[in-house]
Amino acid sequence: MQTGGIYCDKLAQKVGEAMQEYKSVQLHWTGKHRIDEGQQASIDEIERVLVNPHAGVQAYYEPTEIRLPSESIENIYCFGDNLLFLQDWSRTNAVPKIDLIYIDPPYMTELAYNSTIAIGSPENQTTILRSAFHDRRIQGLSSYLDMLYPRLAAMRDALSEEGSIFVHVDWHAGHYVRVLMDEIFGMENFINDIAWCFGGGGNSRRHFHRKHDSILWYARSPQYIFNPQFRPYTPGTVERGLTSVKGDRYRLHQEGALMQDWWTDINKILSPTAYENLKYPTQKPKELLQRLVAAATRPGSLVADFFSGSGTMAEVCNQTGRSWILCDNSPLALQTTMYRLIRSGSDPFRIMAPCGPENTATGELILKTPQLSSIDDKHRLLDIGIHFYRNVHMDETPARKDFSDYIEFWELDLDYRDTFNSCCQVIREKHRYRGPLALDLLVRIETGRSRRVAIKVWDVWANQTTAIVEIDA
Ligand SMILES: C[S@@+](CC[C@H](N)C(=O)[O-])C[C@H]1O[C@@H](n2cnc3c(N)ncnc32)[C@H](O)[C@@H]1O
Repeated sequence: MQTGGIYCDKLAQKVGEAMQEYKSVQLHWTGKHRIDEGQQASIDEIERVLVNPHAGVQAYYEPTEIRLPSESIENIYCFGDNLLFLQDWSRTNAVPKIDLIYIDPPYMTELAYNSTIAIGSPENQTTILRSAFHDRRIQGLSSYLDMLYPRLAAMRDALSEEGSIFVHVDWHAGHYVRVLMDEIFGMENFINDIAWCFGGGGNSRRHFHRKHDSILWYARSPQYIFNPQFRPYTPGTVERGLTSVKGDRYRLHQEGALMQDWWTDINKILSPTAYENLKYPTQKPKELLQRLVAAATRPGSLVADFFSGSGTMAEVCNQTGRSWILCDNSPLALQTTMYRLIRSGSDPFRIMAPCGPENTATGELILKTPQLSSIDDKHRLLDIGIHFYRNVHMDETPARKDFSDYIEFWELDLDYRDTFNSCCQVIREKHRYRGPLALDLLVRIETGRSRRVAIKVWDVWANQTTAIVEIDA
């Protein structure tokens, strides 16, 4: 007969061996270790944004600061394929320093994601269809895994010792992604599979309604940051004055109950008129990301979202005192994020892209002849704005009297040099696509020098066009 101690040791050894074997279980598919040639590019700064939103029909802008040095701007938007940025990031950042990576990649749905909006006043609207991104791959699952595998591996290398990654998936391929994560991050670093439960949307009579996504949480090491999160007690618990959870020792705590790994208290953004709804397909609610940021970072942490869509993560970081890196390769994602960040008065940020021309002029933009009038010895009032804008897409939609209906917002650079340095942005007052957009801006500028002033227009299809004018003040 074995004594208890010896029996336990043998059992532990057996479990250890089994774990080793389990670790050697990996997912294989054709081309898993294929190296993607030509996946290196140098990354350039294409824009610097000092957010200063102006709305209303006649906007007046009194600049205090019009240019920030790049080194002083911590937040970065990377416009392009995230693999290029991840590779560049690991080349230029010897010490991994990202505390939280959240990604919400395509889910292998085989769908094309579009965004439909109505522009113009409610009495005179035109519907516009914009393409956001495609989630279609020629070779289905193996192409999907080909896409994710090198990116997840690069993300692991970018995480700090205290860092965590949260990968948002659904029923389509989530089970494969979890096996990949075990391989890349180590199954010992798996922390939670969070079930995010929501309502609304389509139903089926062929199966139970699919009403949850999974958020797979892996840590870089056992030193990962975790701040416990709490939820309110149920009315029954409050009435009883006791919890039914042993871990809570049955006593009620002031903060509420410790949160489980299934969340039912945050819904998808369902209302088409909700302020938060930016009409980007697959947009996630801020509340969801706020919870992740609160749980796995500290104030001042660096947070990254490499499939950032409408830019939800950047807004959450700005509001909670974290720095951010976002990445997306869809022009509509960049335009929507820009709008979101301007509207919410974001911290300054830089836009980076694989090197190429800064401005691929896609529209025709004619500026008004600038007018100058005197304020005092040191200052003049500059009246600047847009005379005309046109884009080929406009020929494909019913003609509208006002070209400004097709403009989503515009930006101003008061001292244009090599990179567009946005110091002021003009948006519509309340309704993003309705109501008038100011086409003029009155700006107080200093006298005594000539300068190049640039205006960049973003239209509703996410095209950007810049025009420059010389001002001698
Ligand atoms: C599900 S959406 C993300 C939505 C986002 N969480 C939000 O709240 O709006 C996925 C995004 O990944 C982007 N994407 C897909 N492949 C990419 C790649 N290789 N590099 C960068 N972005 C990519 C798409 O353009 C799309 O915006």
